[in-house]
Amino acid sequence: MVMITKFRKRFRKAYKRPDRPDKDGVTYRPLDPLDERFDAWRVVVEDDRHRAMYDRLSTMIDRDAYAALQEKYRSEIEVNDERAVTKYLDLAPWFMIHSRIARLLDIDTRPKCSILDIGTGGGQFLAVAKAYGHEVLAFDQPEPQIYGDLLELFEIDRIEGSVMLGKPLPTAIGRFDLVLINGQVFDVWPDKRTERWDVPEWASFLEYLCDTHLTYPGTLFLGLNKSAGPTATEDFLWPLVDLAETKGASVERKRATMLFDLEDPLRFDTVPHQPWLTLGSE
Ligand SMILES: C[S@@+](CC[C@H](N)C(=O)[O-])C[C@H]1O[C@@H](n2cnc3c(N)ncnc32)[C@H](O)[C@@H]1O
Repeated sequence: MVMITKFRKRFRKAYKRPDRPDKDGVTYRPLDPLDERFDAWRVVVEDDRHRAMYDRLSTMIDRDAYAALQEKYRSEIEVNDERAVTKYLDLAPWFMIHSRIARLLDIDTRPKCSILDIGTGGGQFLAVAKAYGHEVLAFDQPEPQIYGDLLELFEIDRIEGSVMLGKPLPTAIGRFDLVLINGQVFDVWPDKRTERWDVPEWASFLEYLCDTHLTYPGTLFLGLNKSAGPTATEDFLWPLVDLAETKGASVERKRATMLFDLEDPLRFDTVPHQPWLTLGSE
């Protein structure tokens, strides 16, 4: 068994790039030349505004610093079949996704504002926002290292910590004009039961966020990760999307995104739920 694993690793190293997609359907190539990747992904950009944001961000990357990161992660990438977190080093697909979100949020035309990204990952959304002069802050866990390295490449500050059911976020975070959550995985129970948060937990958390971290008028963006289904990864939490729509959010059903332009903090009075800070302690 050990021999086979060693052989597979050597084989992969010799041939360098698996020509098949990762679990999410994308073939990542974090060691390829950056500009080749930008050109390849530019063709799936959806319209002129999206393209302008993608291009602006692409030209702002420090090529030498990026090449140094490729070297830092080269051996890890070469020996691993799945890209896992090193997929974030392949900037082009992420710039395509995050500049599309930026277009939804009018990042290119909205007056300069402050933006918090919760569970930022590699910070690609904030990098677009920063490229348009907005003041940005990341909130995320300290690991894995590659997220911190990418934030450093984009020169974005991060407050380190975790969203935990019923616990306050660090007060040092402060308030923002726009709060974004995209692709969340923090919606888990402290006792590690397999299911993820349901609508009541989300209602509690979003009200808490509105009360403690948004200014008004303010914008809240939520782009869901799949958290429903037999293994809590098969489907989006559609009842939350439906609820958001009843609360006036602009909803993009294809990607389960919800965008709230708010004059006042959200209240989900039709959903039985507890105040955030009383959750998780029973
Ligand atoms: C799927 S990635 C999404 C990254 C990024 N938002 C994006 O759209 O590319 C999930 C992110 O959530 C972060 N995360 C995981 N658990 C968390 C927690 N309890 N609190 C805050 N962030 C968490 C991970 O570190 C990672 O950055």
